[in-house]
Amino acid sequence: MSLQKKIQLTGDKSISHRALMLAAITGGTTQIKNLCNSEDLQSTIDCLRACGVNILKNKKTHIIDSDSLSNPSIPLNCGNSGTTIRLLTGLLAGQNIEASLYGDASLMKRPMDRVIDPLKKMGANADWTNNQIVLKKSFIKGGEILNPTSSAQVKSSIILAALGGEAKTILTESYNTRDHTERMISFYNPNSIQSLAHEITITPSKLGINSMEIPGDISKASFFIAYACLTPGSNIVLENILINPRRIGFISALKEMGANITIDNKKIKYGEPVGNVHVKYKSRLKNIRVRAKSVRDMVDEIPILSIVAALSRGVMSIEGLSELKLKESNRVLAITSNLKAMGSDIRENNNNIMIKGQKYLYNTNINTFSDHRIAMAFYIGSFFAKHTMILDNIECIKVSFPDFFEKLEEIRA
Ligand code: S3P
Repeated sequence: MSLQKKIQLTGDKSISHRALMLAAITGGTTQIKNLCNSEDLQSTIDCLRACGVNILKNKKTHIIDSDSLSNPSIPLNCGNSGTTIRLLTGLLAGQNIEASLYGDASLMKRPMDRVIDPLKKMGANADWTNNQIVLKKSFIKGGEILNPTSSAQVKSSIILAALGGEAKTILTESYNTRDHTERMISFYNPNSIQSLAHEITITPSKLGINSMEIPGDISKASFFIAYACLTPGSNIVLENILINPRRIGFISALKEMGANITIDNKKIKYGEPVGNVHVKYKSRLKNIRVRAKSVRDMVDEIPILSIVAALSRGVMSIEGLSELKLKESNRVLAITSNLKAMGSDIRENNNNIMIKGQKYLYNTNINTFSDHRIAMAFYIGSFFAKHTMILDNIECIKVSFPDFFEKLEEIRA
């Protein structure tokens, strides 16, 4: 069966979290269209509501009403969402809020010192103990701060805290990671933030956001892009998709592998580049070397890229995957163990993986490690496996993409 459809997707998850959080401290009413509809976003909505923010949904628009945040009377449950707990900790510290934040077993295993340490240096009264982050009244003073990690979540947490600071913060970091926080702030108040080479200067201020529309999620799109690249005769269009350069590393890699992917109708909407992504099946793809530097622009797409690699010609090497071991599951382990079980020749060495492509994969039981992106990647992989595959948990897909199966049906129809 070939794929022949034009589809639209719900809003980008990373941008949706940021839109809600910035709306919560903007003062007044903000209308957000096409917010991501996932469990992770629901965690952010629930936490913000507990801090006194009014959030209503009217058809496809969320209406956020907020003057100032208040101390929540309950611990804030961030569920499975790393973006919620890390960004919210910064946001709340900047607003002098007292709160405790926690999440599910997977989230509680993930490193939180990477946000607590810089926030403390900025003046946050924050601790990470007994499986929760405890925030006491903080006074963010401003000054110079370094983000030594390649994490956009850490960068964004620092920026959100700095917005509520006493004076300017100058953030230095040496990685180019997704820049949605910077773009969104700059779109609504260019004087609040300046990015120059490796330095970001944040001037405490209110933003005055009143409306926003979130572009279609490029990470959700990646599963269908991969599916079309692997299925002879396919010709699909994904409309109004985020094409931020820091997020389209997956498309660049597929093009280097020989895929026919073009983007037209490019526009800048609310500070972010969007466009229609056309994918036409060309031929079996050829594996390439993906260097660590490029991984940052497709950090969430490595599971689905590995599936494509396992079905392409030649040997794929994907380097510098240490951060993948710190995601919702250890994704290097999840990819290697499941692909091995499907008969693929895959090896890991020192945070690099090598995959020797073959024409088919084989049926097996897949351990999703309850990780949404592993589940979706292997679900797509199952279409190229002989016989039926069984995934132990498909419910976890709701974490980022509750309408995954609906969209899959739409594109296969
Ligand atoms: C995200 C950043 C990335 C990504 C995550 C969402 C964000 O994490 O993996 O899914 O919204 O900032 P890191 O910043 O930890 O790499």
